[in-house]
Order: sequence, then C-alpha cells, then structure tokens
Amino acid sequence: ALDISKLRAETGYITLDEGYVNTGSAVSDITYLDGEKGILRYRGYSIEELAANCDFIEVSYLLLYGELPSNEQLANFRAALRRHTMLHEDMRSFYNGFPRDAHPMAILGSVVGALSTFYQDYLDPKDPHQVEISIHRLMAKLPTIAAFSYKKSIGQPFIYPLNKLSYCENFLQMMFAVPSEPYEIDPDFVEALNLLLIVHADHEQNCSTSTVRMVGSSDANLFASISAGISALWGPLHGGANQACVEMLEKIREDGGNVGKYVDMAKDRNSSFRLMGFGHRVYKNFDPRAKIIKKSCDILLKKLKISDPIFEIAQELEEVALSDSYFVERKLYPNVDFYSGVIYRAIGIPVQMFTVLFAMGRLPGWISHWTEMHASKNKRISRPRQVYDGQTHREFLPIEKR
Ligand code: ACO
Repeated sequence: ALDISKLRAETGYITLDEGYVNTGSAVSDITYLDGEKGILRYRGYSIEELAANCDFIEVSYLLLYGELPSNEQLANFRAALRRHTMLHEDMRSFYNGFPRDAHPMAILGSVVGALSTFYQDYLDPKDPHQVEISIHRLMAKLPTIAAFSYKKSIGQPFIYPLNKLSYCENFLQMMFAVPSEPYEIDPDFVEALNLLLIVHADHEQNCSTSTVRMVGSSDANLFASISAGISALWGPLHGGANQACVEMLEKIREDGGNVGKYVDMAKDRNSSFRLMGFGHRVYKNFDPRAKIIKKSCDILLKKLKISDPIFEIAQELEEVALSDSYFVERKLYPNVDFYSGVIYRAIGIPVQMFTVLFAMGRLPGWISHWTEMHASKNKRISRPRQVYDGQTHREFLPIEKR
C-alpha cells in the first residue's frame, strides 16, 4: 500500500485527487450547477426556462457572450454563422480517405482538427478578431461536418448547407435530404433537436470541457482544442454513453425485456457491467436535463404516434432501479444520456450519430470555457503534479546482464 507520509517526506505536500473529485480547476461564471438540488443554470438562467423559450443559437449566444441577445444581436449572430456553413471543397477528399464504416466521432474529431490546416491565419488565441471568426467557423461548420460523416457512412452524396434554413433545419436537411427529391422538414423534429442541443450546451468542468481548457492552456489554437474535446467526449463513460445506453436498451429488448436481470448484473461487484445512462459525478438527487428530456420524449412520441419499445423498457428500468437500495444508497439516477437516444431515434438519427449530436450541443460550452480561460488574468498552463510511487534510483544494467 502507498505510504503517504513517506511519500510526502520525499516529494513535499501535493494534493492527490485522482479523477479530480474535489479539485477546482477554474473560476468560472458560465454555468451554475447544484448537484444536490438538481439545479442547472447557464449564466444564471434556469435550463428549464431556456429550453422552453429559446432556440439553440440564442442559448449559444448567451453562453458565448454572457448575455441573452437583443433581436439585432441575434440576427447578426445568425448571419455571421450563415456565412461559414460551407466546407472548403478540398475537405471532401478527407471523407474519401476514411473507411466507409469509420465511426462518425472519429471523423468529426479529425476534420475539426484539420480546420487549422485550412485557416492558418486564424490560429492566434490572443487575437480577438481571429478568435471571433474561428468561433463562427466552428459553430457554422460542425453540423455540415457531422452530416457529411453520416452521408459518407451510408454511401449517399453530400447535401450542401441551405442558408435560408435555421441551424437545426439545415442540419436535418443535410442529414436526410437526397438530391432531386423534395425533403419536408418536420417542425416537431426541429423543436426536439433544439431542445436536445440546449440541454447539452454546457455542464461546467466535465471531462471534455476540462480537456478543451487543458489543451487550450498551452495556447494551442481553438480548432485543435475543440478536436481534443471531441475525443474526450467520445468515451462511453462520458458522451458516448448515449450510444451505449440505447444499445443496452436494445439488448434488453432482444433478451425478452427482463430489466430485473440487467439491474442485478449492474449490482454485481464481480461484473464490470453498469447501467448506461445512470449515475453522475455531480448530480446526487436527479439530473434536471434527464427530466426535461423524458418529458419531451413522451410528448414527441405521442405526437408522432410512435410506440417505441425502447422507451417502455427505459421507463421500466428507471422504476426498478430507483426502488432498489443499491441505486438509492449510491444516489444513482438517470442522467442526460438515458432518454436522449429515444428522441434521436424518433427523429431518425442513427445510433452511431448520437454522440456527434452531443458534440454539436456542447460546442458553445467548450468555446465559452476556452475564451473564459484565455481572458483570465490568472491563466497558466495546466500542469498537474503527481505522487511518484516507483523506484527512485536503480543501478543501470548493460543489456547482456539483464
Ligand atoms: N451502474 C451500476 N453501478 C454504478 C453506476 C452504474 N451506471 N454508476 C456508478 N455505480 C456505482 C459504482 O460501482 C460505485 O459503487 P461502489 O461505491 O460500491 O464502488 C458507485 O456507484 C460510485 O461510482 P463511481 O464510478 O465512483 O462514480 P463516478 O462519479 O466516478 O462516475 C459515472 C460517474 C462515470 C457517470 C458513472 O456513474 C458511470 O459509469 N455511469 C454509466 C455511464 C454513463 O451513463 N455516463 C454518462 C455520464 S453523464 C455525461 O457524461 C454526459
């Protein structure tokens, strides 16, 4: 076992906090979160009110610039984004090079990282003009990059952005339209998509946001920092849980819908299985985002007259788990990823794209943290310390004597 006092004598006093459970890494005024009470507010506004009254671009403006926009500010912001929705034609060759079955999150991270090869005169994090244009480019291009990755995976031609459409409408047409056939955009899909993007838009110092801050702390450019955030989000313990969750629900359905069996498996200390979409580092009562999404799920499925067995299973699983002492004692509740997949399915989004949608939602949050960090007078490169537990000095042995 680690002899902490011996190590302290040798290395000095270093806080050891693996997983950063209790370490503040930043002073921030972007998102307020109270995990005990289940409160989430962006710039002081409750997530419930924002979800009910705003669209995603309005909320993005709030996160990025700190205030809700006036009509004129919002119109200017939308216009700025519309100017940058296209990808450079040479970027198409990236897509040709990726294997057809490449995961769209892998494509997203790579293509976003490659933006810094196309905009080399806009990479200085200290130049406000360059940063502003890069923000517009990222926000505008991410849906195009995402939709192209889907079209690539199904072998259909890319559908270019149509700038008369709103952000969410445009994304849906790039995903689902096919050349020379009319595509009618369902307003219910647009509403559901806006809501999902809003509830994902920021969540203070989570794994991907901390990654964006950490990479940015070395003065790496915005595209490189966001690309790193996309990679961090992909993991199944973070944003990748939305895909993992629907795959788990699907498996339970195929297995006869016996939710009790899976709850027991998740409780088994000898098994590595966990209920995906359950538990959260900060929320210890309920996740307010999960509540909003569950309600919207219910409304959307009824409106579309869809009866999705996955939604039934999810609700049953929640009920069984929440009446089980294992989950109650550990304060494990459904998180944002538990019901979001049901809505994505209803809209027609394939399961491999779920985490990509999460990334589109989280983008304004990542950027806001990156710019907040750069604006801080106390900005320093992130450089955690360690507690060294290896041998301190060994005699070197020439290869023939090992
Ligand atoms: N199913 C079963 N048991 C669980 C689960 C779960 N989903 N989550 C946590 N536990 C148990 C752990 O085994 C542990 O039990 P123990 O005290 O007996 O050892 C206890 O609850 C605490 O769990 P930790 O892993 O220490 O909690 P941590 O805060 O480190 O992890 C996390 C949080 C990663 C979200 C975890 O709950 C998890 O793996 N959930 C499933 C994946 C998921 O849904 N991720 C999405 C999170 S939200 C987001 O990133 C957008």
